[in-house]
Amino acid sequence: METVKTLISAEEIKKRVAELGKQISEDYKGKTLTAVCILKGGIIFTADLVRELSGETKLDFMEISSYGDSTVSSGTIKIARDVEYTIEGLDVLVIEDIIDTGRTLSNVMKHLLAQKPNSLRLATLLDKPDRRLVNDCIPDYVGFTIPDHFVVGYGLDYAQRYRNLPYIGILDLG
Ligand code: IMP
Ligand code: MG
Repeated sequence: METVKTLISAEEIKKRVAELGKQISEDYKGKTLTAVCILKGGIIFTADLVRELSGETKLDFMEISSYGDSTVSSGTIKIARDVEYTIEGLDVLVIEDIIDTGRTLSNVMKHLLAQKPNSLRLATLLDKPDRRLVNDCIPDYVGFTIPDHFVVGYGLDYAQRYRNLPYIGILDLG
């Protein structure tokens, strides 16, 4: 039977997201921040994080497909939805749920850099450095560094399920 064992509680996430929000607000003081949420996984983290930002903030979305319905990365990345407005000259913060092999973000960052933003940074809720295959994008803001487990909840899914869990848990397929 499939079970989910809590790894990071809702309270811990809330506390860490507030800390990150404070730090990002400081770093972007006096600037307009354009937050680019990577759908679908980044939606919950983005929704909570942008509400902790004190400066002027705009919001845009990209959707990337990289995983099928298993826990194994396909390695193929497709931009299913691109940002609505050009990011040329803007201060952009990409917000993602997790960096695993690094393939997705490597592609996303290259794609966005080509549009010549004034600055481009990356915030990820989770980082699984043990799994890294592509090392060309280092996150500027990390919520939690976790060991090599397949996790679900708080935006992260397994076959599109579990995204709504308020905590992050390790999935055991039983
Ligand atoms: P990467 O390209 O291997 O870095 O994969 C990143 C994407 O894979 C993330 O945006 C997630 O959608 C998905 N992913 C990687 N690890 C996990 C996990 O532990 N749980 C759920 N999704 C994951
Ligand atoms: Mg994702």
